[in-house]
Order: sequence, then structure tokens, then C-alpha cells
Amino acid sequence: MRRIWIPFGVLVVVTGMAVLAWQASAEDKTKASPEPQASTPESGREDLSLKDYMRKKLAASNQILEGLCTEDSELILQGARTLNEMSQSERWRVNNDPMYRQFSGDFREITQQLIEAAEQKKQDRALLKWMDATMSCMDCHNFVRGIRLADRDAK
Ligand code: HEC
Repeated sequence: MRRIWIPFGVLVVVTGMAVLAWQASAEDKTKASPEPQASTPESGREDLSLKDYMRKKLAASNQILEGLCTEDSELILQGARTLNEMSQSERWRVNNDPMYRQFSGDFREITQQLIEAAEQKKQDRALLKWMDATMSCMDCHNFVRGIRLADRDAK
């Protein structure tokens, strides 16, 4: 039982940092570019729903975290399946860059491994896979942010 606490602590820290980093960058964004990126009302609305869609990943992540805390494999499964299905959906493909596809593919594979770990009730493995998944969240977000900055500089 004890060995689970060290990775668990790391997990909490990593997840916390992830959320903080994203929030910080969202604030930066509003400061740096007060104008919405969308130029028409319709695309503005699309943007909003994309945001809501992307935020569904947070709810699924919470399910996984709760499942890990309470050793509830069913919750882990639910969250992991949601993330896995999302990563295969049309809506997810906001970007055609090969790197974005690569990050998406990696994420899909990791969440698939998380599903399998939860199905086999392998808690330790599920925890490790969740840590991989959160790193994968950050890697992709960093990449997306990089493209955005490049786009902005190009304008
Ligand atoms: C393959 C790329 C990729 C992966 C992996 C990924 N995301 Fe995202 N995420 C995006 C993109 C693209 C956006 C939208 C950025 C934008 O246009 O604002 C986004 C936005 C978000 C947002 C911000 C929504 C808002 O309020 O604007 C949150 C929160 C988020 N993701 C959480 C997560 C979590 C949690 C994970 C991992 C479990 C994750 N993401 C994994 C690509 C990814």
C-alpha cells in the first residue's frame, strides 16, 4: 500500500501544475490579445463550444483521479473511455498538423492502456498510465500554444 503514496503525491502535484499552467496561459491570452480570434459571430460561437468540448476532458480527468483515490476501477474506466473516445472524434481534430496527429495518437494509445489497466484492476499500472496521460495533456497543449504564438507573430 505504501508504495502507492509516492507516485500518488507526484500525480497530485503534476495534475495541479497542469491545471495552474493552463489557467495562467489562459490569462496571458486574454491580456495579450483582447480581441477574440474569431472574426465572425458564428465562428465565435464555435469557439465557445470548442472550449466547452475541451473542458469535458477535465470532468473525465476528475473521474479518473477519484477512481484512483478510491480504488474504484469503474470510475477510472469511465473517465478513460471518455478521453479515449474524445481523442478519436471529429471535434478533437482542430488541427491538421502531423505533430498534432502524433500527439493525438499517443494520447489515444495511453488512454487505451489506462482502460486495459483498469479493466484488469491493476491499480499501480493505472496510476502510472494516468501520469503518462497528464504529461501527454501538457505536451500537446505546449505544442498548440507554440503554433498559436507562431501564427500570431506571422500576422
Ligand atoms: C492532442 C492534443 C491534446 C491533448 C492530448 C489534450 N488536449 Fe486539451 N486542448 C487541446 C486543444 C487543441 C485545446 C484548445 C485550445 C484552444 O483553442 O483554446 C485544448 C484545450 C484544453 C482546455 C482548455 C479549455 C478552455 O477553457 O479553453 C483544457 C482544460 C484541456 N484542454 C484539458 C486537457 C486535459 C485535462 C488533457 C489530458 C487529460 C488534455 N487537455 C489533453 C489539445 C489537447
